[in-house]
Amino acid sequence: MHANPLAPAWLQPPVDANALAAAVWPANAHRGDDGMLMLAGVRADDLVERFGTPVYVMDEADVRERATRVRAAFLSAFGRIDSTARVYYAGKAFLSAEVARWVAEAGLGIDVASGGELAVALAAGTDPAITGVHGNAKSDAELRRAIEVGVGSIVIDSFAEVERVAAIATELGRVQPVRLRINSGVHASTHEYLATAHEDQKFGVPLTRAVETVDAIRLHESLRFLGLHSHIGSQIFESDGFSAAISRLMGLHARLLQDGPVPQLNLGGGFGIAYTDVDEPRPIEDIANDMAAELASAAARLGVPVPDVALEPGRSIVGPAGVTLYRVEVVKPLQVTVPMPPFDPARDGDTREDTVATRTYVSVDGGMSDNIRPALYRAEYSARIASRVSTAEPILARVAGKHCEGGDIVVHAEYLPGDVERGDLLAVPATGAYGWAMASNYNWIARPPVVAVRDGVARVIVHGETIDDLLRRDAGLDRGRTDSGQTAASEGSTTSD
Ligand code: LLP
Repeated sequence: MHANPLAPAWLQPPVDANALAAAVWPANAHRGDDGMLMLAGVRADDLVERFGTPVYVMDEADVRERATRVRAAFLSAFGRIDSTARVYYAGKAFLSAEVARWVAEAGLGIDVASGGELAVALAAGTDPAITGVHGNAKSDAELRRAIEVGVGSIVIDSFAEVERVAAIATELGRVQPVRLRINSGVHASTHEYLATAHEDQKFGVPLTRAVETVDAIRLHESLRFLGLHSHIGSQIFESDGFSAAISRLMGLHARLLQDGPVPQLNLGGGFGIAYTDVDEPRPIEDIANDMAAELASAAARLGVPVPDVALEPGRSIVGPAGVTLYRVEVVKPLQVTVPMPPFDPARDGDTREDTVATRTYVSVDGGMSDNIRPALYRAEYSARIASRVSTAEPILARVAGKHCEGGDIVVHAEYLPGDVERGDLLAVPATGAYGWAMASNYNWIARPPVVAVRDGVARVIVHGETIDDLLRRDAGLDRGRTDSGQTAASEGSTTSD
């Protein structure tokens, strides 16, 4: 078939609009004999019958394997340069008690970015000693809780935070290990990195203020300096941004060694994943090796020992293991004028007329409340009909959500079988990271459950909300509420929380 002129240049018509590209789908996704999408041996239609739509599905074995693989990649790369690596899972990507246990069993620590994330990790039994605490605006209560339970590191994000952490640690009689987050000026995004102005973002301490901040840390007996921290961005495909950051940070690291120990260097997370089959992130083993090579050469150049390394991957552990299942509600083909390319006499002669092409809006029963990423970042995703295979000629589709906003898009552009229809189940892969984590109740839509699948068994790991859950939060309905949380038919007994 010919490409639809409305499709972006990167999106080619598929050879098979039912195929599940291995790089994009969970490790244990395949089609059953009848064409049904199977996730770790569980049929998509069975999942939907039990849990409804939308539903987030996580391939448990895939998460565990990715955690193991990422840890092994860094341990072996840094082991070869006589260093070692501690990998912390960045819980912001998706944290629940079960996921905290899976990554702990794979030997990872956990990195938390709020008191709430810390509470989940602790409730799941995460060892505080391998928990790191982040945040550019930590409250005193968050700091106190972290120090009280004995977290392994707090990443200090500003000069002023030094005194606050030190005072709370002193009061609690603790010696708190801390890192210092540096704004190295390297900001990486997919395919590129930019060495931008240092000052114009909220995270970390600029390189120019780093020495005085570490001096301040070292003045306190209640603090123990572990080393520098750098996180250069997210969804990064190549090694060069990491290498640039290592090179800059090691200069500072060497300078700090003149006045005391600096045992570690934390290089953050940000390792990219494939959302569509044109995305080709460099394998994590290669990135780990490149980072180790850069670290070894920087240390040799500066004449200092190679520090131990800490890393904080989030997306690359859980992202590819997640799939969201939706139900198609409406299919709406639209004739759309194709934007005219710039006039080219050689090509166009005098026959320039507007052309129109068909874009088919496939609206599903979820949207920006369960995945804000397409609306927020214009992130690209892919999609497949989950409930069957089809040999119908593919059409260019835009998968839209059910919210009252034109920008409520689930997949901007994808070729779907031309017979896609109301009632079909639609699956969007690579939704395991920053989907549930950033979900909202926009339009009073209840957030979906998260279901783990493994070896043919499905179980809820995060309950979905019901509309009653949402109504219970509406204080305007408190009068006349019964113990069950329902609004009583007659006014009378009230409960409050
Ligand atoms: N460490 C720090 C200090 C971070 O700020 C982050 C992500 C990570 C580690 C983990 O990065 P990852 O390996 O997951 O890329 N909501 C955005 C991503 C925000 C990332 C924020 N920080 C998205 O959906 O693309």
